[in-house]
Amino acid sequence: MTLARLRQFLPQASIRRKLVLGVAFVHLLLMTIFVVDLVQRQRDFLWDELTRRTLHHAHVLAVSSSPWVLSDDLVGMEEVVEGSASGSGVRHAMIVDPNGRILAHTDRNRIGQYLADAMSLEALAGARTARVYQQSETAIHALSPILAADKLIGWSILTVDKGATLAHLAYVTKTGLFYTLAAIAIGTIFAMLLSRSILRQLRHLLRGVDNLSKDVLDAPVKIVSRDEVGRVAEAFNRALASLADGRRRLTAEVGERRRAEEALRMLSRRQAGAIEEERKRIARDLHDELGQALSGMQFRLRSMQSQTANVGGGVGDTCARLAVEVERMGASIHRIANALRPATLDHLGLLPAIQAFVAGQLPLINDRMSIAVDAAGFRRRLPADVEMIAYRIVQEGLTNVIKHAEATHADILLTVNHPSLIVTIRDNGVGIAAPAERFDGRGADHGNGLLGMEERAAAIGGKVEVKPRQGGGTILRAELPYAAGEAVHA
Ligand SMILES: Nc1ncnc2c1ncn2[C@@H]1O[C@H](COP(=O)(O)OP(=O)(O)O)[C@@H](O)[C@H]1O
Ligand SMILES: [Mg+2]
Repeated sequence: MTLARLRQFLPQASIRRKLVLGVAFVHLLLMTIFVVDLVQRQRDFLWDELTRRTLHHAHVLAVSSSPWVLSDDLVGMEEVVEGSASGSGVRHAMIVDPNGRILAHTDRNRIGQYLADAMSLEALAGARTARVYQQSETAIHALSPILAADKLIGWSILTVDKGATLAHLAYVTKTGLFYTLAAIAIGTIFAMLLSRSILRQLRHLLRGVDNLSKDVLDAPVKIVSRDEVGRVAEAFNRALASLADGRRRLTAEVGERRRAEEALRMLSRRQAGAIEEERKRIARDLHDELGQALSGMQFRLRSMQSQTANVGGGVGDTCARLAVEVERMGASIHRIANALRPATLDHLGLLPAIQAFVAGQLPLINDRMSIAVDAAGFRRRLPADVEMIAYRIVQEGLTNVIKHAEATHADILLTVNHPSLIVTIRDNGVGIAAPAERFDGRGADHGNGLLGMEERAAAIGGKVEVKPRQGGGTILRAELPYAAGEAVHA
């Protein structure tokens, strides 16, 4: 594997694979170095040993054959040569005279022949010391001078087989190889066991992180070890616990706040209801009592007028003027009572009440502006508070159009779209400014209209949105749930 491929492989490999490969590689490297060194040393040692043994052997042969050579006793020489050939690994032994003629040989046929090969001749011509003069693949050749009173009388020559040494070396190499493989196998098993023990905790931790990413906070990581990974897992569990705790507290807080909001909404709804109730009562009192009284007064003034028609001093005229005044007062009271609480709303319903209100606005706008009222989806009366709020929103919204929009047309649309009543008021006027500009540098009592609408709608869980229309004008959209309980189930 090249370095580049290794660099590509490593980040993707699992920890277990990295560990196993790493340990196997280190074992292979160390054991190879160790075994190569061991075999090398063993070989050097064995060769030294073989050389030393061979030289010693040749020397012994030279010394023990010296008397027989001196006395030219061929039988004696023969015996010595045979004796030396019984030594381990000796292929053949011989005794030659200084000229290279074979005096005795383990192979009798060669007795009397001359050594002819160049190596041997060169060796015989060399120094009078015992030495190895030739090495071949399978054998080692050594010679030792035979001396008599410092005079060279011949040479002993030994050829020793290398086979046993080579076999021993092969054995050592094979054993080394076996140990290398065994070390790799043991290392791999060890690395696998080690990685399993490390990864067990890591795997639990991984599962915990996975759970966390799925927002499961109540499944702590199982602790199966006390090592660094185990400690990380413990820290993770602590973090998880505090996260879960924070979540619990937050949920409780949100619930608390939601309940408070709900209570506030209930309160404002009840307050709005009470106000409406009060208005209704005042309107009724104004209408019933004051209105009745004024009607009575008007009737009596009219009859006084006819009774005093003949009386001079303008009494009749005064009565007539007073009657007109009282009638106007009655109309005023009627108007005020209607503004406080339109009787039409209670008696005829939302749509007629709004139509009546719009009709009441027409004299204010003359023919500057047209107003269309449309409705859809009405099948039965909506809850009284929803109708009231819708009415008030239309009241305020349309008043705003008349007051601020400089529009030539306004559309009022009421749509019952279960579970909400949708009220929209569209005009083609100048368009409403952004809130920041609207409230900029104005008194505190400005802007209460929109705010009041929003509060009213919020009291029943609805909302109001006022924004400029594309292409000019303003659109007001109110969404008023009339079946809040049903909506939840729907
Ligand atoms: N239909 C509309 N077209 C243009 N501007 C509007 C419209 N409705 C409201 N506005 C602007 O929003 C402001 C706030 O309205 P509102 O809350 O009803 O307060 P007010 O009517 O007392 O000024 C108004 O002063 C006006 O500038
Ligand atoms: Mg207003």
